[in-house]
Amino acid sequence: MELNKTILITGTSKGIGRYLSEYYAGKGFNVIGCSRSKSDLTVENYHHFLTDVTDETKVKEIFTFIRKKFSRLDVLINNAGIASMNHVMLTPIKSVEKIFSVNFTGMFLFCREASKIMSKQKFGRIINLSSVAVKLDLEGEAVYAASKSAVVSFTKVLSKELSEFGITVNSIGLTPVKTDLIKGVPEEKINSLLDKLTLKKFTELRDISNLTDFLIGEESSFITGQNINFGGV
Ligand SMILES: NC(=O)c1ccc[n+]([C@@H]2O[C@H](COP(=O)([O-])OP(=O)(O)OC[C@H]3O[C@@H](n4cnc5c(N)ncnc54)[C@H](OP(=O)(O)O)[C@@H]3O)[C@@H](O)[C@H]2O)c1
Repeated sequence: MELNKTILITGTSKGIGRYLSEYYAGKGFNVIGCSRSKSDLTVENYHHFLTDVTDETKVKEIFTFIRKKFSRLDVLINNAGIASMNHVMLTPIKSVEKIFSVNFTGMFLFCREASKIMSKQKFGRIINLSSVAVKLDLEGEAVYAASKSAVVSFTKVLSKELSEFGITVNSIGLTPVKTDLIKGVPEEKINSLLDKLTLKKFTELRDISNLTDFLIGEESSFITGQNINFGGV
């Protein structure tokens, strides 16, 4: 049991974030989650904030709570994200702004605020969720892939800026996971994506916690600035 360790996960109302919040609460972490809608996770060591990750004032309130209640933050997982598939010629500017603001700016805000606490305690683990769309250059996902490329690039630079404080920063390139995010994607599109992988299958939720467990371990202090793709990509 990981008693007295604190983990902050964004986008916890459903999907991967919902899974990770329950998983780490089950391991004894103090878990703080957030999303625009409620979470149905009701265990005592889980605290949910109704927060849009792009709202700087609200994001700062989460960190004030963490400082007051726990005095430390061990792990941050930037999971909140949105996707939209469209040909570039048909993509409205509003869609571009929204995807970048959630996938990149939201992640930036959480990294910045977490760095302030983690640097003082000289320990921290930051994981940002990206996608194999970055490496596979998937047609129809230009804006989404660009936003997740920004996540990978930011992760690498931040890992250098935070290295002197005992903080590691890594990202994970996910292959398709069966969540609401990809519910609207036509089956033939998903199958053609799976076909591009070395291991042609969906990422299971357990695959994700297996990797996050590894990256957040104290013994993983020598692994930073990496983007780890699933599926052999
Ligand atoms: N599923 C896949 O195949 C796949 C593949 C590659 C990468 N990923 C990445 O994995 C992460 C999680 O995806 P998922 O599949 O679990 O998606 P999901 O089932 O759609 O869940 C997304 C979560 O993010 C939250 N969220 C979205 N916009 C938000 C905002 N502005 N502020 C706060 N929370 C917000 C949602 O809650 P609210 O709507 O309540 O705010 C929800 O809890 C994303 O970063 C995604 O890009 C997923």
